[in-house]
Amino acid sequence: MVNKLLAHHRPKWKTHIGFLLAAVGSAIGLGNIWRFSYLCYRNGGGAFLIPYLTALFIVGVPLMILEIGLGHKMRGSAPASFASISKKWEWLGWWQIIFVMFGIVLYYSVIIAWCLNYFFFSFNLSWGQAPDNFFANTFLMSTDSPFQVGDVRTIILASLAFIWFCNWFIVFKGVQKGLERASKIFMPLLFILVAVIVIWGLTLPGARKGVSVYLRPDFSQLTNIDVWRDAFGQIFFTLSLGFGIMIAYASYLPKKTQIVRDSLIISGLNCLFSLFAGVGVFAVLGYMATAKSVPISEVVTQSVGLAFVTFPEAISLLPAFSNVFGVLFFGSLVVAGLSSSVSIVEAFASGISDKFHYRRKTTVSVLCIFGFLGSIIFTTKGGVNWIEIVDHFLNQYGLILGGIFQCILVGWVLKARNLQKHINHYSDWKVPGFWNFCIKIISPVILLIIFISTLLSEISSPYGGFSRVATILIGRDWLFYTFFAALIVASHPWRTDPSRRIISHEKEKS
Ligand code: ALA
Repeated sequence: MVNKLLAHHRPKWKTHIGFLLAAVGSAIGLGNIWRFSYLCYRNGGGAFLIPYLTALFIVGVPLMILEIGLGHKMRGSAPASFASISKKWEWLGWWQIIFVMFGIVLYYSVIIAWCLNYFFFSFNLSWGQAPDNFFANTFLMSTDSPFQVGDVRTIILASLAFIWFCNWFIVFKGVQKGLERASKIFMPLLFILVAVIVIWGLTLPGARKGVSVYLRPDFSQLTNIDVWRDAFGQIFFTLSLGFGIMIAYASYLPKKTQIVRDSLIISGLNCLFSLFAGVGVFAVLGYMATAKSVPISEVVTQSVGLAFVTFPEAISLLPAFSNVFGVLFFGSLVVAGLSSSVSIVEAFASGISDKFHYRRKTTVSVLCIFGFLGSIIFTTKGGVNWIEIVDHFLNQYGLILGGIFQCILVGWVLKARNLQKHINHYSDWKVPGFWNFCIKIISPVILLIIFISTLLSEISSPYGGFSRVATILIGRDWLFYTFFAALIVASHPWRTDPSRRIISHEKEKS
C-alpha cells in the first residue's frame, strides 16, 4: 500500500521535451565549452573525432542506455535501483551520488561563481591589460600550495551564495515547476548565446585559421594511448555518466518511453554542441593569434586558463563591443554550469527521498545549505589548488571506478539481457545484442585500462606537480571518506522495500 502510494507520488516529467532538455542540460556543462575544444586541438584535431566517436559509441551511448533503462525499470534513484538488483550493491549508488554531491558539485558551483564574477567584470573589462595577473593575483589571490588555505575571497563567496540559491530554488520547486521549467528557459538560451558567439567569432579576422587548426586532422596522434584515454574520460564526464543523474531522471518517465531514441538524442546533442562551441572558441583564438602575430599554439590553453585568462585577453582585443562579447561568453558558461549543477542536487535528493521518505522540500533545503558550506573551502585563496586535485581524483578515479562497477552490476548480476528485454519491450528502436557485449565486456575493460594507466602514471609522478601528501590527503581521501559514508547510509534499513517499485514488462505481458 505504502509503495503504491509512493509510486503514485513519484515526481513525473510534464512533457517529454522537458525531460530531454533537462537531460541534455545536465550533459552540456562547463566541460563542453572549455574542455572539449582544447582536447580536440591537443589530440590530433579532426583526427581526435575518431577516438571520441569510438568512445561515444562503445561506452557513452551503451552506458546512457543502461542508466536510462535502469532508472525506467526500477523507477528509483541510483541507490534504489542498485538495491533493487541486489542489496549488497546499494553502496555503489550511494557512493556515486555522495561523491558527486559532496565533491563534484561543491567545486563546480565555485567555478560557476567565478563565471558569474567574470560576467560582471566584462561590463568594464576589469581584467585590464594583464588578465593572467588579474585572475591569479587580484581575483583569486591564489597561494602556491593547497595547504596554504588563506582567507575566503568574499567576492567569490557572494556569487557562490547566489549560485547555491539558484540550485536550491530550481530543485526546491520540483521536477515539473523547477527542473523542467528552468531547462525550457536555459537550453534555448544557451543555444542562442553560443550561436551568437560562434557567428560573431567567425566574422573576426584570423577566425578561419583558428578553426582549421582546431579541426586539421593529425592521424599520427592516434597511436598515442593518452589520446584514447582523454577521449574516453571526456565522454564519461560530458555525458554525466556515473553521476546517478540519468538514472534519477529516467525514473520520472512514463512507462511508454523511447529509451534508445532518447539516449541517442541526449548523447548526440551533447557531442554536437561540444563541436559547435569549439568552432567559436577556436575562431576567437585564431583572431587573437592574428592580432598578436603569434602562432595559435602560443595562445591555446585549456579549462580554467582558457576561460579566465585567454578569453578575457581575446575579448579585450576585439575591435568592437568587447564587453557584450564577454557578457555573452560568461553568461553562457553560467547557464551551462547551472543546468548541470541542479541535476546533481536532484540526483542526490531523489536518493534521500527514496530511502528515508523525508519531505523533498526539507531535504533539498538542508542539502543546499550543506552544499554551500562545503563549497566554501574552494573559495579560499588556496581553493584553486583544491579544485585541481579534487576534480582530478573524483573524475579520473571516482567516476571511472563507479562506471566499472555499474557495468559489472548490470552486466553480470542483473544480467544485461534482462535489462535489454525491458528496454526493447517499451522502445520502438531496439537495443542490439552488441549492447550486452559492450556492457559486460568492452566498457568495463576499457574503463579498467584507463583507470590502471592513470594510476600507474601517477604512482611515478603525482598529479599536476602537487606533493604526494596533498594528492593523498585531498584527492584519494576524499574518495575514501565518501566511500565510508556510502557504506554507512547503505547499512540503514529502507522504509519500504526498494524492489517493490520495479516496472516489470514480464508481469505486464501475463
Ligand atoms: N556533464 C557536465 C559537464 O560537462 C557535468 O560539465
